[in-house]
Amino acid sequence: MDVEIGKTNLEPGCGIQNNETLRVIYSRRAIRKYKDIPVEKKWIEKIIDAGRMAPSAMNAQPWKFYVLSNVELIRQFSRQIGRATVKGVAKMGVKQVAKTIASAILHPENLLFFKGNDFVFHGAPVVIFITSRKDNVWAGLDIGACAQNMMLAAKSIGLDSCPVGIGKFVMDTEIYSKLNVKDNEEVKLAVILGYGDEVGEVHERKLNNLFYIN
Ligand SMILES: Cc1cc2nc3c(=O)[nH]c(=O)nc-3n(C[C@H](O)[C@H](O)[C@H](O)COP(=O)(O)O)c2cc1C
Repeated sequence: MDVEIGKTNLEPGCGIQNNETLRVIYSRRAIRKYKDIPVEKKWIEKIIDAGRMAPSAMNAQPWKFYVLSNVELIRQFSRQIGRATVKGVAKMGVKQVAKTIASAILHPENLLFFKGNDFVFHGAPVVIFITSRKDNVWAGLDIGACAQNMMLAAKSIGLDSCPVGIGKFVMDTEIYSKLNVKDNEEVKLAVILGYGDEVGEVHERKLNNLFYIN
């Protein structure tokens, strides 16, 4: 199947279809609707292993993975995180809320978050919270790389994914205690996985951000 590359610098016939790595990179999308099919543990573990292969500052490998694969439990987490998110947004202050609304108008794809009945985990059958120690200043970058490895690995084996930043609000819920995360750790990101039930939109990529300095 050909990869839809959207607006990028790639020319038709650039060979992307013949390069498995590029094909996977360009075909990954944030997917927000999932089939009611569980994901086998062996695939979850392969995906986490791909995450572990990410580079990390001073080879700290700061990530820890907390996996939910029980649909009823995921629903309970979603409900509580949804409420915590609304409270968290309300606490941001007028300026930040105005910025968020302006950004939603300029980038309507952000509103995709809110489609469906589960605006947190989008009905996915697997949720992985990724945490790190609070005192590691590089951990956010490391976990970004780790999560991207996981999402590309998922795509390469026929699974879809979405990074869920609002998963962080789990720390403001009662149900958080079920994860048994240590006090010196914090949730940086959640990644959801599953068999997608939609064709992800191809968002145009900005091309005015490259500068050669001679
Ligand atoms: C750090 C980060 C946090 C994100 N948080 C959310 C989120 O909370 N909910 C969601 O539905 N999508 C979330 N996304 C997905 C983005 O909205 C999505 O990647 C972006 O719109 C580009 O679309 P694409 O991934 O399909 O190319 C997040 C992405 C990143 C990188």
